[in-house]
Amino acid sequence: MIRIDVPLDSRSYPVVVGNSILSEFQSLVPPEVSRVAFVTQKGIDVSIPTELPSSIHYLPDGEQAKRLSVLEDLCGEFAREGLTRRDLVVGIGGGVVTDVAGFAASVYHRGVQVMHVPTTLLGQIDAAIGGKTGVNLEEGKNLVGAFWQPCAVICDTQLLTSLPKREMRSGMGELAKYHFLGGEQLDALPLEERVAACVQIKADVVASDEREGSTRALLNYGHTLAHALEIEGSFDLRHGEAVAIGIEYAALVAHNLGRIDEARLAEHRRVLDVYDLPRGLPEGSDIDHIMELFHRDKKALTGLTFVLDGPNGLEVVEQVPEKVLRLALTQI
Ligand code: GLY
Repeated sequence: MIRIDVPLDSRSYPVVVGNSILSEFQSLVPPEVSRVAFVTQKGIDVSIPTELPSSIHYLPDGEQAKRLSVLEDLCGEFAREGLTRRDLVVGIGGGVVTDVAGFAASVYHRGVQVMHVPTTLLGQIDAAIGGKTGVNLEEGKNLVGAFWQPCAVICDTQLLTSLPKREMRSGMGELAKYHFLGGEQLDALPLEERVAACVQIKADVVASDEREGSTRALLNYGHTLAHALEIEGSFDLRHGEAVAIGIEYAALVAHNLGRIDEARLAEHRRVLDVYDLPRGLPEGSDIDHIMELFHRDKKALTGLTFVLDGPNGLEVVEQVPEKVLRLALTQI
């Protein structure tokens, strides 16, 4: 088992990575906890052994779970179970579950402890680590939420063996991102070490900028186009697949701006191909509409802003010229 610490002063916590390690759960439960509320979804068949009284709470399937009404129902269930401020919420599932369980934990009794057991690759290397929680509004994704760090995260790689191929590929899109955040050798590692290496990169970034004032924004590499494609809504794309297309696009933009050379552009393509990820815009994409969605991006406070590669690695670049962005959309 590999242990990585996320160092955040009094809110520091361990992320443990290994094969068949759910039995570690009890040892990671904080000593004051006397009841556990497991939050999961019906299709996720993961049970965690505990000596403590516990309850199981099922969220609706998919993105439908990320609603304020679901949060209200969940907190009501906690209250009826008698969950107190000293107890523990445990999110078992993908990013949707850990986002909602984490947000519920952040507001129930003005904050109870939460532990995450991510069951997807995307959850293990990204969503469950770093304390971002939240739900969607009609007006947009993740518009309401809180930073609420877990007390521990268990990444059991055994859970990934039964993951549908498409879900695994989606995780690979986020994994590809880490190649450009210091993880150049990731594809040479066995799965467990690869997950641990991504967790270490994420832990370092979160420790340096917990609330995304600066460097944490680099974790959004490839996400500006990805979010536009996801908001567009008519494409059959998983998040990680959209991120992969966004990484190819960001590399093209960086190349057009003279920030990276041919070899570095080719390295982006090599990484995306290693993980069998898509690189082209989905059929039927409308460039004008994508440009419009770029303008609505949360980062677009001072002109169109992208995370781009360059001589010093990834950087947040403001005021990227519209014509460069349009040109790259025709090249991808
Ligand atoms: N998934 C990006 C972040 O946690 O900041």
